Amino acid sequence: MGWVNRRRDHGGLIFLDLRDRSGIAQIVVDEKVTAAHAKADAARPEFVIAVKGRVRRRGAGLDNPNMPTGEIEVVASKLLLLNDARTPPFSPAEDAIANEEVRLKYRYLDLRRTEMQANFALRSRVAMAIRNYLVSEGFLEIETPFMTRSTPEGARDYLVPSRVHPGNFYALPQSPQIFKQILMVSGFDRYFQIARCFRDEDLRADRQPEFTQIDLEMSFPQMDNIFRVAEGFLTAAFAAAGIALTTPFVHMTYDEAIKNYGIDKPDMRLPAMVSLSDILTPELRTALKIEQSLPVLGFVIPNVGELSGTARKSLLGEVRAGFGDCGLDLLDVVRLRTNATFAPLADAISAALAASLGVPALSAADLITVVTPKLGTPAMWNYDPQWIYKRVGALRLELGAKFADKHGLFAKTGTAADFKFAWVTDFPMYEWNEETKTWDAAHHPFTSPHEDDIQAGRLTTDKGAVRALAYDVVLNGNELGSGSIRIHRKDVQAEIFRSLGMTDEEAHERFGFFLDALEYGTPPHGGIALGLDRIVMILAGATSLREVIAFPKTARAIDLMVDAPTPATPQQLRELHLRTVTRT
Ligand code: AMO
Repeated sequence: MGWVNRRRDHGGLIFLDLRDRSGIAQIVVDEKVTAAHAKADAARPEFVIAVKGRVRRRGAGLDNPNMPTGEIEVVASKLLLLNDARTPPFSPAEDAIANEEVRLKYRYLDLRRTEMQANFALRSRVAMAIRNYLVSEGFLEIETPFMTRSTPEGARDYLVPSRVHPGNFYALPQSPQIFKQILMVSGFDRYFQIARCFRDEDLRADRQPEFTQIDLEMSFPQMDNIFRVAEGFLTAAFAAAGIALTTPFVHMTYDEAIKNYGIDKPDMRLPAMVSLSDILTPELRTALKIEQSLPVLGFVIPNVGELSGTARKSLLGEVRAGFGDCGLDLLDVVRLRTNATFAPLADAISAALAASLGVPALSAADLITVVTPKLGTPAMWNYDPQWIYKRVGALRLELGAKFADKHGLFAKTGTAADFKFAWVTDFPMYEWNEETKTWDAAHHPFTSPHEDDIQAGRLTTDKGAVRALAYDVVLNGNELGSGSIRIHRKDVQAEIFRSLGMTDEEAHERFGFFLDALEYGTPPHGGIALGLDRIVMILAGATSLREVIAFPKTARAIDLMVDAPTPATPQQLRELHLRTVTRT
């Protein structure tokens, strides 16, 4: 039983491709089987049918090597039409459907496609593998509420008005953060949950307003214990997709990530950036009009093919245009080499970049990019010394996307080699918010600062230098998960709230219950949460979370199938003590 995927009428013989969750099989209906043939004649794509028949090998030369069932067919002796179907707006038999809005509006048809069926089978397997692993490691799965108070994770809350408490609202959780910490206070010592989270934030391909975390917390952990558990369940998850990971993952500090990749979620499938500052001596800098005090950074995108003079010039022009007047420029290494004075410099740069790749020499097919700060630029970047690393890191990714994918650097071998994981540690505790001119918690306010930074009084004297016991796990340039060792002492927690500009009264009003709980014997604890949707997206080779969430929202947070959100009825608003106001 299943759906008609395609129908081919050869007169005396009608071929129906019958599709169900497990795949497609070819049905042959001979006109000699009159009743079945008449039904097959009436059947159209997406009709629901039942077939009785005999399985046989296809005739010589008629095998279809592109189909797992391509060597057999079913000769129908009986055929029933269980239900008809309107002509669908697109055919689930087709692989590529251009218009995503139509896919989302008719999601039930879109989900019939083989690719989507495979994505959700994968998602189910991955979630089950993770659950099994965590249970086997002694974790308890405990659910936490959806209707709760605000949990600060840096996004806006979705609010639910209360009918019985006029003017009061529940918040949907941005994460189970506070509850999982309370569960540690309650002595559950190893908690996990495959938890739905809700965040009203600007959406991108890797963000949805509701999404799923693999959320866990442990009492008395060292960071390494948490890393080991996360690596363990990721290994189980990837094994469910047929990929054998090797652990432990690479470790680097936040500062190293910025210095080498210009970003806190490095894509290590591309070579790292390299500081060429030592090679560019003060004399060379003066000759080339390069700022003395700032780094010169280079990187290689390997094996893009030799660029013609025109192609190289146009690429340089494009990159320079992208820099605008931000004070950065490019050194044209190929041209330097043709100039007797600068040829040794070009050679030294190439040698340094080759050494960083661990190869004896670069080839003409490798794209070398060297970025220099122009004279007089420090004034432009007076507040962020890491800015230059971040900007060059962004260029590295841009050029990587432009060239590397085409040239197979982002290999899709279906093995562990496609997946470059890393732990990034020692994140800053605070980040400066230019808009509000305040220091915000870079992770969340329950993250423990580094003990040395507390002792040195930096929470008040030098917030920018305070390190957090926070870590991320990243994969191929995606942030898969974040976590931290938490504050377990009330005095430290209260101090952190204060350092974030909250008065004791405000802290008590928002988090009084939590500060109270910390006073009743709270164990040291820590944990992590990973995005299940992101993991499955990467495993499925998809580029948007919408491919792995059954009923996702658009970039404007709309569910096109059910058409949500919608206005409430006047009666609902009355009951909820609400009035809507349209701002002009
Ligand atoms: P964080 O806010 O970093 O940490 O979230 C953890 C992981 O959840 C995923 N994620 C998302 N996935 C899809 N759509 C979104 N809008 C979205 N937002 C986050 C990401 C991210 O890495 N409570 C802390 C964790 C902890 O400290 O234990 C937290 O929620 O993969």
